Order: sequence, then structure tokens, then C-alpha cells
Amino acid sequence: MTHTRDRADELEALLDYLKRARGFDFTGYKRASLTRRIDKRMLGVDVEGYADYVRYLEANPGEFAQLFDTVLINVTGFFRDEGPWAFLREELIPRILATKGPREPVRIWSAGCATGEEAYSLAMAFAEVMPADRVRDCLKIYATDVDEGALATARQGTYPERAVSGVPPDLLARYFDAADGHYSFRKELRRLVIFGRNDLVQDAPISRIDLLVCRNTLMYFDAETQSRILARFHFALNDDGYLFLGRAETLLSHMTTFAPVDLKRRIFAKVPRPTFRDRLLAASRHAVDGDGAGMSPHPRLRDAALEASPVAQVIVDRAGTLAVANERARSLFHLAHDDVGRPLQDLELSYRPAELRSRIEQVYQERRAVTLPDVEWRTGPAIRWFAVQLVPLLDDELEPLGVSIAFDDVTALREVRLQLDHSHQELESAYEELQSTNEELETTNEELHSTVEELETTNEELQSTNEELETMNEELQATNEELHTMNDELRRRGDELNEVNAFLESIFTSVRAGLVVLDRNLDVLVWNGRSEDLWGVRHAEVEGTSFFALDIGLPVEQLKAPLRAALAGDGDAFEVSLPATNRRGRAITCRVSGAPLVSSADATPRGVILFVDDATDDA
Ligand SMILES: C[S@@+](CC[C@H](N)C(=O)[O-])C[C@H]1O[C@@H](n2cnc3c(N)ncnc32)[C@H](O)[C@@H]1O
Repeated sequence: MTHTRDRADELEALLDYLKRARGFDFTGYKRASLTRRIDKRMLGVDVEGYADYVRYLEANPGEFAQLFDTVLINVTGFFRDEGPWAFLREELIPRILATKGPREPVRIWSAGCATGEEAYSLAMAFAEVMPADRVRDCLKIYATDVDEGALATARQGTYPERAVSGVPPDLLARYFDAADGHYSFRKELRRLVIFGRNDLVQDAPISRIDLLVCRNTLMYFDAETQSRILARFHFALNDDGYLFLGRAETLLSHMTTFAPVDLKRRIFAKVPRPTFRDRLLAASRHAVDGDGAGMSPHPRLRDAALEASPVAQVIVDRAGTLAVANERARSLFHLAHDDVGRPLQDLELSYRPAELRSRIEQVYQERRAVTLPDVEWRTGPAIRWFAVQLVPLLDDELEPLGVSIAFDDVTALREVRLQLDHSHQELESAYEELQSTNEELETTNEELHSTVEELETTNEELQSTNEELETMNEELQATNEELHTMNDELRRRGDELNEVNAFLESIFTSVRAGLVVLDRNLDVLVWNGRSEDLWGVRHAEVEGTSFFALDIGLPVEQLKAPLRAALAGDGDAFEVSLPATNRRGRAITCRVSGAPLVSSADATPRGVILFVDDATDDA
């Protein structure tokens, strides 16, 4: 446990060191794949702990590049995962173009572009849909990555045959020049793609983007870092812009800022945030609608509205004179036209249906509206009920100009209220029943809620497992590519070795003397065709056998001394003539020349080389 914690602390210290020493911030990367990649590199240089690895990096700065190369997985391909690309061509690009004027720029960003295949795929996809002159004048594809090595390959735009296998043949013919088994992206489109270094964790985003493609890159980051990057992407995109992610990447926790256009294909639309200006506009509209600040500029219209109002309304000025009475008020309170202009106190209205004068005084004193909610008015057998509201009318300096008095007839409302009161009791008992049903429902609801939450958690867990699997898949692909390269190298070496072997074999065969090579134990390594001719013993029979155990017509015992001397490095070559019997039983004189077998790197003899010749005729 402590060991694990120590190791985790050491890893964090290593990440901190990488940030300080080289400005690479890996702290926001998912720990599982990050440690796998760092461990792989450490295995390569035979270092066990992260603290030791920091020391190793300090002593060997060349190792930084190797480490970054291992951590930043550049697996990619042209038109990777075909499905979404068809959707892009058929649906999304036309949608983007439809929002643009014919001369308006179309700006694309491939973030985490690795060795450039994705950016060039985008260039081809747009060029297939857009008119050529519009592509030339309006299309810009920004392609960024944090890995300078990958960007260098991307800038060259030249790929081996295996890399272009994902490009449909007609596009390959249209957009690539082939030479020496390599394919170079054509210049006309190549110059629309601008490659640059951009660290998604630390650098500012590119702005005013119509389509942001960030595939199989976000999944390397932990949830918090993904969130930060997505907020930047949101900023980078135009309000009607789109985000295109990789197969394993979704936006579970960002559904408010991005809305799925096609969830399966991982294509999302930006949900624009209201700007400050929008909010201000909404607020001012509210103010105009809500508090009457936007007063009508037509006084006659206002007067007509007051006159036609279904609520009886009178206005009493500061001197206590009835200044205005609308049609409803005149008919309700039997006011004649010439009552307008008379002191209120002279009119029945001043005390019936409610005592108004003291209330008017109260309004002036308190400078606020006064409401009399239930005013009864009996006229013969009929009873009417009013809600009377007295509102102070103030000038610009907040000095009182008068009081507006509205008589709202609430008779019908009161009846309804009485009936309602009646029903209320019935309802209350029904309510109690409902209440208990509701409680039951709430419990069920809570249970459902927690099940939904569990499902959401499981979903997120599945999502991160999915991302983890995809990451491992990419790592495997990277290893696979390394193995391919090693395999090619081994095959090349094998071919070279075969050639050298064939070459040696031809030398052995062409030598006219019997050639015998012995190792340090004086066991037979080489036994050429002429030796087989001389002694009637085949190579396969003698290989690995001690030279002195050979049952041939040559008195090998007599060669012991010079052979040992040659092996010990005492003296150089030797030559002796020996009587011998060849395979046909004929007595011959053999000339045996020997020399120690030495290499340029090591002076100690590795064995002895012997030339054995029939010298009977010479003798
Ligand atoms: C697996 S590749 C994806 C390539 C391409 N988008 C695709 O889907 O085929 C991930 C890329 O993300 C890049 N990357 C990793 N961390 C990054 C960062 N902080 N900022 C920018 N790119 C980053 C890596 O260098 C690598 O080229």
C-alpha cells in the first residue's frame, strides 16, 4: 500500500519535473495509460523507479524526445472510421456551407492532428463538395498537435503506400502524386492546410471555427482536463459551429454546451451562450414591459384606453377636485359630465361605497398605494362588492399630483370564492388522500431517481472503460507498427546474411584445395567439397566432430603440435608435407598449410584454417 503510494508520489514528481524542465504538462492525462507508456520507456532504458528515471533524464537530455514520442501516441489514418466521414460529406459540410456567403471564409480546425492524415482527409472531403474557386479562396484548415516530430511528418505530406490504403482510389488519383512507392499530397490543396504546434491543455484556442475535429485525443485526458478543453472548444466555435469527436468519445457532462447532431457518429453542435448584450437587451425589454417605463407617446390613445377601461376609475387632484372619471365610473356612480371639476367632498362618491377622503390623506402621507379589498355596496336589494385601490400619482420630482382610485367589481369573484370555500373542504379531504398517494409516489420517484443515477454512473464508467479500451487499442497499434518496422529490419538482415552465406559457400566451393576450418576446440566447422573429394567423407558427417577423431587417410595426429601452437598464438602460419592415403586408397603426399583464424576486433585466434592439397606430383 505504502509502496503504491510512494510510487504514485514519485510519478507526480516526474510529471512535475517534465513540466518544469520541458514545459510539457502531462498532469491532466489519465494515469493508467500514462504510466503504461512511461513504464514502457523506462523498461527500454533499464530504469525501475520514477525517481531514478528523473535522474536518468537529467543525465541524458536526449531521452526527453524518446519519452514524449512514446507517451504521445500518433496512431492515425486517412478517413479513419469511415462511417462519420460519409455523414460529414453528405450532411455536415453542405450544412456548414449553407450558412456562408459565397466569399465568406470557412475555417476548420483539426486538433491533435498527429502526422496530418486527418487534416488532409478534411481537405479532400471539403474539396469534393465545394466549388474549386471557393476552396482556393475561402477554405482554411488549421491542423495542430503538441508533437513537433509528428508535425514535421505532417508538413511533408508524403506517405508510404501502407498509409494511403484508406484513401479511395479515385481520391488517391485526384489528390496525390505517386513517386518511388510514396504518395505526396498535391500542392494546390496542401497550401490550404496550416500546421502548427498547439497544446490543448495550455495554449489559447484558434477562434471563429466552423468545424472543430478533435478525434481520439480527448480520451487521453482525465475528466477535469477534458472539461477545460471542451470549454475552450466552445469558445473557439462560431455559434453555428460543429464539433467532431472520435469513436469512443462522448460529451456526457457537456450536454448543455453541445447538443448531439448525430450521437453515434460523435458529431455535436455548439449551443451558444447568451452574450452580455443579449442579457442586457432581455432585461431592458422586461423593464419596458414590466414597469411602464416605455410610456406610449400618444396621450389621446391613453385617454381613450382609460375611458374604455372595464374597471371604474376616477382621478382626484391635489386640491381634492374630481379631475377625471371614466365611462364605467360615470355610469356606475351616476356621475354627470359636469361633476368632473367639482370638489370630491360634494359628491356621494366621497363616502359611498367607501369613505375615500381619509384614505386619500393616508395615500398622500405614506406615498404608497392603499387597497380596500372587500367594499360592500348595497343598491336596493342588490349587493355588489369592490376591491378599491388608491394609487398616488407623482410628478418627476416625486411630488404628489393627485390620486387614482380604481373600483374593481369583485362580486362575481366573491361568489366564486364562496363556492370555492365550499368545495375547499371537500378538496381538503381529497387532498389528504392525494397527499398520502403523493408520498408513496415520491418514494417511488426517489427510488427511480437513484436507479437513474446508478445507471448514469454505470454509463459513465462504461464510457471511461470504453475510452480506456480504445486507448489500449491505440497503444497496441503503435506497438504493432514498431514490430512491423523491426520485422522489416530483421528480414533485411536475414537477406543480407543469406547473401553473405551464399558468397562464402561459393568461395569454399571454388577453392581448389581442401579447406578445413576448426574452432578453438579443434572441432570441424567448415569442410569444403574438395575435402569431401580427397577423403571420401561428407561435410554433414564431420561437422562438429573433433578433427583428431576423423578416420581419414591423413595422419591427423601429426598435426597436433602445429595446430595447438597456432591456437596459442605462438607463430603465424605453418606448412607441412605428410604421407597420406586418398579415398581411392592411393598413397599421396599431402601439403597441409594452416594459419590461426583471427578477426580484426580480437587478436585471440578463434580457431584454425587449414588448406590440404595433393602435392604428389610436386614431390
Ligand atoms: C491518437 S492521435 C489522434 C490522431 C487523429 N486525430 C486521429 O484520430 O486519427 C492523438 C494525438 O493527440 C496529440 N496530443 C496529445 N496530447 C496533446 C495536447 N496536450 N495537445 C495537443 N495534442 C495532443 C498526440 O500528439 C497525438 O498526435
